[in-house]
Amino acid sequence: MQENERKKIVFSGIQPTGNLHLGNYIGALRNFGPLQEEYDCLYSIVDLHAITVRQNPTQLRQNCLKLMSLYLAAGLDPDRSLIYFQSHVPAHAELAWVLNCFTYMGELSRMTQFKDKAQKHAENINVGLFAYPTLMAADILLYQTNFVPVGNDQKQHIEITRDIAERFNAIYGDVFTIPEPLIGKVGARIMSLSDPTRKMSKSDPEDTFIAILDEPNVIRKKVRRAVTDSEALVKYDVENKPGVSNLMSIYSAVTGKGFAEIENEFVGKGYGDFKEAVADAVIAELEPIQARYRQISADKAYLNEVMTKGAERAAKLAARTMSKVRRKVGLAATQL
Ligand code: TRP
Repeated sequence: MQENERKKIVFSGIQPTGNLHLGNYIGALRNFGPLQEEYDCLYSIVDLHAITVRQNPTQLRQNCLKLMSLYLAAGLDPDRSLIYFQSHVPAHAELAWVLNCFTYMGELSRMTQFKDKAQKHAENINVGLFAYPTLMAADILLYQTNFVPVGNDQKQHIEITRDIAERFNAIYGDVFTIPEPLIGKVGARIMSLSDPTRKMSKSDPEDTFIAILDEPNVIRKKVRRAVTDSEALVKYDVENKPGVSNLMSIYSAVTGKGFAEIENEFVGKGYGDFKEAVADAVIAELEPIQARYRQISADKAYLNEVMTKGAERAAKLAARTMSKVRRKVGLAATQL
């Protein structure tokens, strides 16, 4: 790469809701840090997305700070990356509105996340929940993003973002960069500990997932209780041994060992030994992050500084795209 060549742009966001768990960590968060070496990264706390389902205000505020602390604890560097709250950059909501006018009801109705959430929150199927993907498209397109690191479940949202961007570009010329998903290789799908045919989810009961901030003894207890089978054979077979396979995925993701290697390691050993090894590996992975988290989350002045600087820099970048969008669509400039 030539020195003066501009770095490609990476954007991702996580919702500040509930407890971030091992699935979020392996599928998304832990991939964010290494990308900073190669790309210009923006990592947002997407609080506007969070309010598409009812939130307790005090808890939401706390969760936002908690997530920012976790970002930093997981190795995101505010000197290299932009770390900020989505709601601190009004251009997200502004572009989302414009994109709403280029998005069809039919395509939003097909989004699986909308269908799932509409079912889960049948008493509150609001317009924001329906338009969630256009806000996500705005997040991404505002910054001329090239790559979006996300879990597998977000692929459909990246696809609709591309469709909207292409539709807009076809009318107005090259306004938006067309983004591509970056899906983590392993562990994009970590399953529930109690029902390994379902994805690990933060809206499920506590003992079905390992929270990133769970104490080591809690992690060990949860792994010990994880559902397996009666065969006492450590073998990767999602169909017939979903529980063991899930623990193997977790073990593989945090140790870097392949499935064959893991199978060899536990030949002739029972699930007890296997589970202890999984727990040890997960604890070893999370402990340093937890220690940094405790330090960072106690430093409110630092957190304030990071979020303010991040929002200021993000707003500047967003303004460039927004002014282009305004001009193309025919909205009058503010300075006549
Ligand atoms: N929808 C994403 C999720 O639930 C979160 C998100 C919002 C996001 N905006 C984004 C992810 C932009 C990547 C890019 O996980």
